[in-house]
Amino acid sequence: MAFKNSLEQYIKKNLKNRVFIVSSNREPYSHTHTANGIKIIEAVGGVHNLLNLIAQVSNGIYVAHGSGDADKEVVDKYNRIKLTTDGKSYTLKRIFLSKKEIDKYYYGFANQTLWPLCHAVFVKPIFDQSWWEMYKIVNRKFTDAILEEIGEKKAFVWLNDYHLALVPQMLRASGKDIKIGTFWHIPWPTYEIFRVNPWGKELLMGLLGNNFLSFHRGYHVQNFLQCVQRELEAKVNFEPSKVTFHDFITKIDSLPAGIDYEEILQIKEKPLTTSKSFLEKEYDIEIPYIAIGVERLDYTKGLIERLKMIDKFLEKYPQFIEKFAYLGVVAPSRQHIPAYRQYSKEFIDLVEKINWKYSTTKWHPIYLINQELQRKKILSFFKDANCGLVTSLDDGMNLVAKEYVLSCQAEKGILVLSKFTGAARDLRYSIHINPYNIDEGAEAIYKAITMPSSEKKSRNLKMREELKDRNIYKWAINFINRTLYD
Ligand code: G6P
Repeated sequence: MAFKNSLEQYIKKNLKNRVFIVSSNREPYSHTHTANGIKIIEAVGGVHNLLNLIAQVSNGIYVAHGSGDADKEVVDKYNRIKLTTDGKSYTLKRIFLSKKEIDKYYYGFANQTLWPLCHAVFVKPIFDQSWWEMYKIVNRKFTDAILEEIGEKKAFVWLNDYHLALVPQMLRASGKDIKIGTFWHIPWPTYEIFRVNPWGKELLMGLLGNNFLSFHRGYHVQNFLQCVQRELEAKVNFEPSKVTFHDFITKIDSLPAGIDYEEILQIKEKPLTTSKSFLEKEYDIEIPYIAIGVERLDYTKGLIERLKMIDKFLEKYPQFIEKFAYLGVVAPSRQHIPAYRQYSKEFIDLVEKINWKYSTTKWHPIYLINQELQRKKILSFFKDANCGLVTSLDDGMNLVAKEYVLSCQAEKGILVLSKFTGAARDLRYSIHINPYNIDEGAEAIYKAITMPSSEKKSRNLKMREELKDRNIYKWAINFINRTLYD
């Protein structure tokens, strides 16, 4: 726990006179009605886990959209609830939104305008004036909730992601003494893509209310600076990167997020069900070579391409029939959006087609778990999977890739990784692919499962050194430090 302690100490020392607030759209825990009463559910996914840890360690206030159907019933009159995990507690303050607000702000502007605009995956963003208006209204709601918690005190506010782009400037306009940092977890597009957004200027101005704005990779920083240079009358500095706008300076840099190295090693010691035992238990099959993938069912993740790679691999190397299986954990996501529903349908159709093409009496190549799984369960699945597959067409970071490298057995597993993920730069010794190149992907799967143990081990150990060194707590310290000090 040495890494966690160092963040705790850093915060105690540097933030003692400021209220610590973390905010993101998605709440770390939601409450829901079940037959046995109200149940608390933890959000899954790399980013959520990471923010939850930060809030715990900082003993701060987490401001987020209350999305659970029982959320309202458990909060106090200020919409707060105290959460305690691992003996540490923090306050979750919930913002409640109407269906119309959720539709236009979350499903509309955030996920049908900004999400496809920022990911270079050839899905056209939709520009709808009423979504934009609602995005402003909901950003104002977040701002007001944060200001309510700050009161007359000094504060440190850590904002997360593309749902809250206007909050920094709104907070700044309050005139209070607040240090504001935003971490933008998804890519930032090139100017040629960004310029089609009718409200691009306002978004940039919103983000220039930050003391510090961070992306995962340097190329996203460069893209952002170019957008500012072309759209605003601002002074743009590339080395070191900062923007001066209306006499206010925003520092901009890349800080690639890391993972919780120590926590993962702990889970690895005592895993729950692993991939091999899962397939044995549920399907009564013993598979020598297992590939695994874990993600939300999202068109940016290259899931259709991945299936085509598996198809090509089995076509070229039929000796792996009955010896290879792909275990896909796919969490349904944003299903109210037509593009997601369409993508899910295509995905399921293709799974069915490939399974039918190769199936024998007791085996088929693709096994799906269509639900969100607890983190511990996922990390345990990684342990004996021979190959991790991350095939995103564009991805800000992809923490799952990093988690696989640390969770697998060093001499048994190896990661096949899209070179279009932010993680590719940190995971240099994984097998890199262009996910659009299906043949290359099929060969990569072959290479992964036939790679000698000694080579897997040496590649994994080299990557693990870096994962240890650039762990999540160091990342958080860097982010806070850059936001606090000039
Ligand atoms: C992905 C992105 C995150 C983002 C999250 C939102 O995980 O990488 O940057 O915050 O999606 O997911 P949600 O399920 O809340 O739409």
